[in-house]
Amino acid sequence: MTAQLIDGNALSRQLRADVSARVTALKARDITPGLAVILVGENPASQVYVRNKVKACEDTGMHSLLERWPATLSEAELLARVDALNRDATIHGILVQLPLPAHIDAQKVIEAISPAKDVDGFHIASAGALMTGMPGFWPCTPYGCMKMLESIGYELKGKHAVVIGRSNIVGKPMALMLLQQNATVTICHSGTQDLKALTLQADVIVAAVGKRNVLTADMVKPGAVVLDVGMNRNDEGKLCGDVDFDGVKEVAGWITPVPGGVGPMTITMLMVNTLESAEGLRAA
Ligand code: GUN
Repeated sequence: MTAQLIDGNALSRQLRADVSARVTALKARDITPGLAVILVGENPASQVYVRNKVKACEDTGMHSLLERWPATLSEAELLARVDALNRDATIHGILVQLPLPAHIDAQKVIEAISPAKDVDGFHIASAGALMTGMPGFWPCTPYGCMKMLESIGYELKGKHAVVIGRSNIVGKPMALMLLQQNATVTICHSGTQDLKALTLQADVIVAAVGKRNVLTADMVKPGAVVLDVGMNRNDEGKLCGDVDFDGVKEVAGWITPVPGGVGPMTITMLMVNTLESAEGLRAA
């Protein structure tokens, strides 16, 4: 192995220790940061994610409110819950776990969350703030990737970053964050004609497609930084990312593993956003 690992668990521990200290300082001023998590239905993956988010709140000393609703909850009822939480002074962040049942318009629900409590960073106001460089909440997964680059002291100015994937949650905000640090950014997607020709030019590659082996060793410039956002299962049912880790680690300079890479950083940045909402630092 030539690549150095970027350990998301170790970095998360460091960042969460800082969050805990700041939570303690806020509590001394009678403010306890509070996160409301709404789960509708019984999606097994969502139940695990939600449990981990609530546990992270407990570990960092924050208040959490978990609302579980049956899949039959109506859109109007969910909007009414979001409205109540918008007005609840003990709650600084509101997260509606996705996906939602098909009869509920997820975008409508996201837009109902107050941008001041949009700790997922999914509201149009948050997206617009990121695009224009104004204060606002950043989506947690790409924000975590930026923290990983910061942790290795990586200077993005003038570097070529290639983002594979164009989702609203990861790919697009990732590209904007890299651009804000003066990288030259290319966004690749399913319609990209020669992905390998582009990734071979990249100093930084972020793989965020949701498909195994999107990035293989022959596609990576020696020494490049590779961040793997994917969460897939291989044929043996083991968790794996979008990157062929065993091959790419022989070529890359830095690489994030799956599990233990970007995954833990997502929840850590949710804690940071919720804390900073309570501190009054980040609201759009
Ligand atoms: N479902 C999968 N990931 C996420 C996330 O980061 N936030 C929300 N709200 N739902 C998700």
